[in-house]
Amino acid sequence: MTGFDVRAAVAEDYEEFLALFRGAMMFEMQADDLGRRMFEPERALVAVDGDEIIGTTRALTRDLSVPGAVVPAAHVTAVGVRATHRRRGVMSELISRQLREVPEAIAVLWASEPGIYGRFGYGAAAWGTSYEIDLRRVGPPAVRLRPGELGELPAEDAGKHLAPLLRSLQERRPGISGRSELGWQKHLLDKPDDRGGKTARRILVHRDDTGAIDGYALWRGKLSWESSGPANEVSLEELVAIEPSAYRALWQHLLTLDLAAKLEFGYAAIDEPLQQLVTTPTALNRRVTESLWLRVTDVVRALDQRRYAVPVDLVFEVADDLIPANAGRYRLTAAGPVAEARCERTLDPADLSLAVTELGAAYLGGRPLAEFAATDRITEHTPGALATATAAFGWPAHPVSIEIF
Ligand SMILES: CC(C)(COP(=O)(O)OP(=O)(O)OC[C@H]1O[C@@H](n2cnc3c(N)ncnc32)[C@H](O)[C@@H]1OP(=O)(O)O)[C@@H](O)C(=O)NCCC(=O)NCCS
Repeated sequence: MTGFDVRAAVAEDYEEFLALFRGAMMFEMQADDLGRRMFEPERALVAVDGDEIIGTTRALTRDLSVPGAVVPAAHVTAVGVRATHRRRGVMSELISRQLREVPEAIAVLWASEPGIYGRFGYGAAAWGTSYEIDLRRVGPPAVRLRPGELGELPAEDAGKHLAPLLRSLQERRPGISGRSELGWQKHLLDKPDDRGGKTARRILVHRDDTGAIDGYALWRGKLSWESSGPANEVSLEELVAIEPSAYRALWQHLLTLDLAAKLEFGYAAIDEPLQQLVTTPTALNRRVTESLWLRVTDVVRALDQRRYAVPVDLVFEVADDLIPANAGRYRLTAAGPVAEARCERTLDPADLSLAVTELGAAYLGGRPLAEFAATDRITEHTPGALATATAAFGWPAHPVSIEIF
């Protein structure tokens, strides 16, 4: 007798679902038409005590860039349990059922606390780097701009101009979540109540010499005045630039804004090129945390659908307590970064053994598999297998997640 049931949500649950999650996160968010249209009740689960919702989780239908491909990934969010019903296994029941039911081969999420999701087989797969840039010390890149190279877009319809750039970024870097048209609308919403004392969002764009937009930055400012003079703060929300010229020009603009003393950015990659362009990288004040967590829900499909940096032919023994059908031995073969990979079950002896958690952590190419040997979380049975697997799972660009969903 657990005192609660778990069921699939229905459209009519939207408001109560949102109220529950809002209460759990201590975060004000109002029900609105856009939220209702994006709800996907069939992809949401609720825990109920009698008629009342006491726990929630949902999976958003989005794609994700992984090494060499863009694939469907269940984007898990809205995990919340009413404060009066915590620590009775409600979240465990919701998350376990969700992981067994999602059709995608991988699930991803951002965790409010790093201690929550490892027990369900999620591994921290991407490091997020936040910057608190001291603009007086950083030494921005020197750029001479053409007239018209930088400009601004009004928010209306901006999504349709920016969407192709996000798709291009997906082809270059793992960890980037795709956005539907509705997703862009939600991303660019700018309700005055949500600005926290900052200005309206500015949409800065870079144009190549044909006039086409090849980079953008979403940012806001905040007035601040110290006894020594102006010390405004710049909050950079997102910067996507495909060509190096666009990347350099956008950063130069943001790092040299008049009256500003500090720039905050929460979504830099650990190998963010900006580090090479400024004269004083320590003035970036970098802080690294876990960002995207990834759970492999179907080993064969998950390993099949990404590419591998070097040729590999190895047998992996994977342990999975939560999804027993996932456990077993798998042979992974691939001929290098541009070749399709093949993963199939095998009875051959294993070259390496690991749990699904470590497979998830290494999946995006941001965590070397060898990292886990030092704590016995991966075991090498065939000499050399760990070095080959580590090289194969790695990728030239580190993964980064540029949006908390
Ligand atoms: C986090 C939350 C969903 C947990 O719900 P819950 O129903 O109490 O979780 P469970 O009872 O299933 O706990 C399962 C295990 O996770 C652990 N756990 C729960 N919350 C945790 C946290 N915040 N940090 C670390 N461990 C946590 C529990 O101690 C328990 O461990 P045990 O089995 O070793 O005893 C709930 O407390 C909540 O809504 N918190 C605020 C919102 C939030 O942080 N949501 C997550 C968004 S990513």
